[in-house]
Amino acid sequence: MGDRWYQEAVVYCLDVDTYADSDGDGVGDFQGLIGRLDYLARLGVTCLWLNPIHPSPNKDDGYDATDFYNVDPRLGTLGDFAELLHQAQNHGIRVIIDLVVNHTSDQHPWFQSARSSPDSPYRDWYVWSDHEPADRHQGMVFPGEQHETWTYDRTAKAWFYHRFYKFQPDLNIENPKVRAEIKKITSFWLQLGVSGFRMDAVPFIIEKTEPGNPNAPKDFDYLTDLRQHVQWRRGDAVLLAEANVEPDQLPVYFGDGSGSGNRIHMLFDFMLNGRLMLAFAREDPEAIIDALRDTPKLPTGGQWATFLRNHDEIDLSRLTADQRNDVLATFGPDENMQLYGRGIRRRLAPMLGNDRRHIELAYALQFSLRGTPVLRYGEEIGMGEDLSLKGRDAIRTPMQWSYKDNAGFSTAEPEKLVRPVIDKGEYGYQQVNVTAQRKDPRSLLGWFERMIRTLREAPEVGSGSTTHIDVPVPAGVLAHRADGRTGTMVFLHNLGTEDVEVDLSTLAPEADLPIDVLSDRNYEDVGKLDRLKLAGHGYRWIRLCRGGAL
Ligand code: NOJ
Repeated sequence: MGDRWYQEAVVYCLDVDTYADSDGDGVGDFQGLIGRLDYLARLGVTCLWLNPIHPSPNKDDGYDATDFYNVDPRLGTLGDFAELLHQAQNHGIRVIIDLVVNHTSDQHPWFQSARSSPDSPYRDWYVWSDHEPADRHQGMVFPGEQHETWTYDRTAKAWFYHRFYKFQPDLNIENPKVRAEIKKITSFWLQLGVSGFRMDAVPFIIEKTEPGNPNAPKDFDYLTDLRQHVQWRRGDAVLLAEANVEPDQLPVYFGDGSGSGNRIHMLFDFMLNGRLMLAFAREDPEAIIDALRDTPKLPTGGQWATFLRNHDEIDLSRLTADQRNDVLATFGPDENMQLYGRGIRRRLAPMLGNDRRHIELAYALQFSLRGTPVLRYGEEIGMGEDLSLKGRDAIRTPMQWSYKDNAGFSTAEPEKLVRPVIDKGEYGYQQVNVTAQRKDPRSLLGWFERMIRTLREAPEVGSGSTTHIDVPVPAGVLAHRADGRTGTMVFLHNLGTEDVEVDLSTLAPEADLPIDVLSDRNYEDVGKLDRLKLAGHGYRWIRLCRGGAL
């Protein structure tokens, strides 16, 4: 194991309320999740990222908190949460939680007080304007559902700023009291035992908002300050941030340029996410090769978090119009599959036509690319989406555990469920569930277990360096390598449907008993690496050599 756990982690993202319901009230809870830790340990997960767990009116699935020091009573008590941390630790699993401090719910007592009077001690905790800001209709994150970023509040007799929905007023990060409070919030959860935070909406947190200026400057030093605090309170805690900005703007989120990563440890690789989808749509790895080449150099300790699906729509806004159209045409052709004019509200299995070979190829590729892989719950069994639900709820349906009623998620009456289970068609729980796949060693779940275990034996993916192998290969094939302390891994992924042969003999001098460690089928031995067969949508993970440390 390397020095930094997050570089060799497998992160699993879930919403407690749709995972497992232990008390039959229709809502998943901490006790239910505790009961599934053995499942997660067997899968090979080493870190859970829990979507927001705080009390909330749940108008944005918990990303609208009313109390940062407590848990949503629907999920259990703080005691249950502490128990979860303990039991997860016993299973060798760390827990990180969402830190959503760009904004609060408008029902948060701070905002209620702030709006009640200009003299409220909390007035300056939010961002106000006495007059209508000229940029009121600019900068919306949810176009179509959100119409402005400044809203007039009659009680306050002033306009307040909200980067997201109007029930999510932005906190005023320039106020030292707000900064102190955010530190206190992180301290509280670290003291309870979390291993860090997935920081929501970081570019907006550090925005020094001014009415009328849609391009407000950003205070990156704030990130340095918060990192120092978090790291002092718990040395091995990590910050994993959502910052969906252009790649050339990313390095400054990792560190101040002095060479050490003194801000955010890990950033989600949104650019790679869009390009992976483009590469799958075009059956052409070019976009991934570009991504590997364009990846900014990270400071020491900086790390990418890769993903194919998360709890939001797939955001294609950083692709060109042509590229975006290709992805939409292939994976989200119906208007009902699209969201906010930029994304797709579907899970991966249905996007890939439930083609098992294609699903394996996609996840084998994600998990072999540089960084720490993040997996969304249910993807490991190939769950589908429910497009009859609103917006992003389509991909937030309950986990499908078994053939029992409500997919074994809950014993409540179906109408009491937090969200309906998928119970029809190809992706209905009768077809897609953990129990059925557990019985079948050839299931997708079984494959995920093997793939994740194999990754554990290839730590150079997480903690080494990854490069494209720039030799002539057949169309559709991506060849890349990961080099690190533990040796070298070579990866072949065929995005096309034709069977091909790949010549990697230029690598032969480096090889030491090269061997396939994961592949879509049993191929002939790698031999001299000059005639590597690769099926359409096939993949081969080859250990080229082991490093001196082992
Ligand atoms: C980003 C989260 O991923 C998304 O689900 C949420 O709606 C917004 N931030 C607002 O908090």
